[in-house]
Amino acid sequence: MPKARLLSGIQPTGGLHVGNYLGAIQNWVRLQDEYECLYSVVDLHAMTIPYEPGEMPARVFEAAAMLLASGIDPARATVFVQSDVPEHSELAWILSCVTPLGELERLTQFKEKSEEHKKSVNLGLLSYPVLQAADILLYKAEVVPVGEDQVQHLEISREIARRFNARFGPVFPEPRALLTRTPRVMGVDGQAKMSKSKGNGIMLRDEPAKVRALLKTAATDPARVRRQDPGNPDVCNVYTMHKGLSTEATLARVDRECRTAAIGCIECKTLLADAMVPVLDAIRTKADGYDREPARLREVLSRGAAHCREIAGRTMDEVRRATGLRRS
Ligand code: TRP
Ligand code: SF4
Repeated sequence: MPKARLLSGIQPTGGLHVGNYLGAIQNWVRLQDEYECLYSVVDLHAMTIPYEPGEMPARVFEAAAMLLASGIDPARATVFVQSDVPEHSELAWILSCVTPLGELERLTQFKEKSEEHKKSVNLGLLSYPVLQAADILLYKAEVVPVGEDQVQHLEISREIARRFNARFGPVFPEPRALLTRTPRVMGVDGQAKMSKSKGNGIMLRDEPAKVRALLKTAATDPARVRRQDPGNPDVCNVYTMHKGLSTEATLARVDRECRTAAIGCIECKTLLADAMVPVLDAIRTKADGYDREPARLREVLSRGAAHCREIAGRTMDEVRRATGLRRS
């Protein structure tokens, strides 16, 4: 049985954080054997909000280095940069012609981003999900691991596939979402999802002392005010991070002792730091290796792009034929 094809993408934000790792990358690493995986650094998506062109190459390099340093293995999975495969943009245009405008305008992320970047609400921000659908459909990927904030986008991808097929014939499978185990890691402030731009994250490059200091400040179960109050791990972001990093034994202990106030939050955070620091150390060491020898990373990305262009070319042939763009 050939493996089902899987695709996911990550934005080159400049520095990845523990939320990216636990919410996405860790899961991507686990999926490498089960699926034929394509992992993309989506620089075209990153153009939808204001950015400095001179900084983009380093941002893309950093995101790709972090994927490999976190355990994505180029011998088993394909890692590529979205803009290295021009067919993404080409297919996005064609798909935009079967995408209902009203549905794009209703999407939460569009509403949030256009509110956040009031002065530069561009068409790309609105058609962002169409480009995402192109990312997926270009490879006829059947499985897409995403966090819960991307479920709406995936629904649009499915709808676009259906509409395309209904209009032009059966070209695309409908991709399905694979929800991650720790879907929503909040920032250390506990106020918003962990994000680089909000400055509430633990970055994958942070040194041990910084990691420990940040965790000390991390928000916990808001109802647990005093040491003797019992807590609820289900509503605690520290526990969410434990789930991605700690052993089953530690998880069971924290879950039990938090509810009876046998363990305090300070000790609980120390246990978390003890689990997190070695993981980040390993990532940082490996990423430093790519910084020293960037050619190794470039080689991986150029092989990835070549592989993807081959698949993309075949799909575009079919799309051109189905849509009547191909003149014989
Ligand atoms: N929109 C996704 C995010 O912000 C990134 C992304 C782009 C993606 N293209 C994709 C995710 C295709 C899955 C599949 O997280
Ligand atoms: Fe959260 Fe741990 Fe404190 Fe419980 S003991 S509230 S899981 S930090």
